[in-house]
Amino acid sequence: MNEIKVLAISGSLRQKSSNTALMNAIIGLAPENMKFTIYGGLGDLPHFNPDLDVDEGPASVRELRTQLREADGVLLCTPEYGNGVPGVLKNALDWLVSTTVFMNKPTAVISASPSPMGGDKAHASLLLTLKMIHAKIVDRGILIIPYITMKMNKGGAITDNELKQELLSVLQELEQACFLKQEETGSA
Ligand code: FNR
Repeated sequence: MNEIKVLAISGSLRQKSSNTALMNAIIGLAPENMKFTIYGGLGDLPHFNPDLDVDEGPASVRELRTQLREADGVLLCTPEYGNGVPGVLKNALDWLVSTTVFMNKPTAVISASPSPMGGDKAHASLLLTLKMIHAKIVDRGILIIPYITMKMNKGGAITDNELKQELLSVLQELEQACFLKQEETGSA
């Protein structure tokens, strides 16, 4: 089975973030051939300013772009703040608009919230931005998860069986999309 490299990004900087816990739980559910790198630089990126985007940009931005370029696929897990995408995540995406690093990149998009709506508005807004930078949003690789705190325990394990099945399906779809891309680009 081919190895697949996935860059995982949580849109929350909070130490006890449910989205980061969810992202880690998803990584724990993944088959062995899916190798995850967790992007940890979201909070260190400078505020997006096109004036700084010269000579390939600041070092932290270059690092983000390199990690994305090297990944076969991307997993995004995000909360919603003020009915929108967290500023830190939007800031990171703004640094990518002038690049092609997301071009045709299979991407799974998950929002999770303790609220009944599951961060649906952040999810929709994130999809708009990702489509603008030509990410390949994976069919059935998108998920909006309400009541997340009732579906995981304090140890970060998923206690809701239906959610676990949905996440396994997202992983499978992301894996397939990455395989297909490897075949298309001859990188398999
Ligand atoms: C929130 N939260 C929230 N939730 C939501 O579904 N829609 C929203 O618009 C907001 N807005 C919002 C604003 C502010 C200032 C805070 C502090 C919180 C709740 C948010 O989803 C909840 O705190 C999550 O637990 C945050 O995600 P992480 O950090 O647990 O991943």
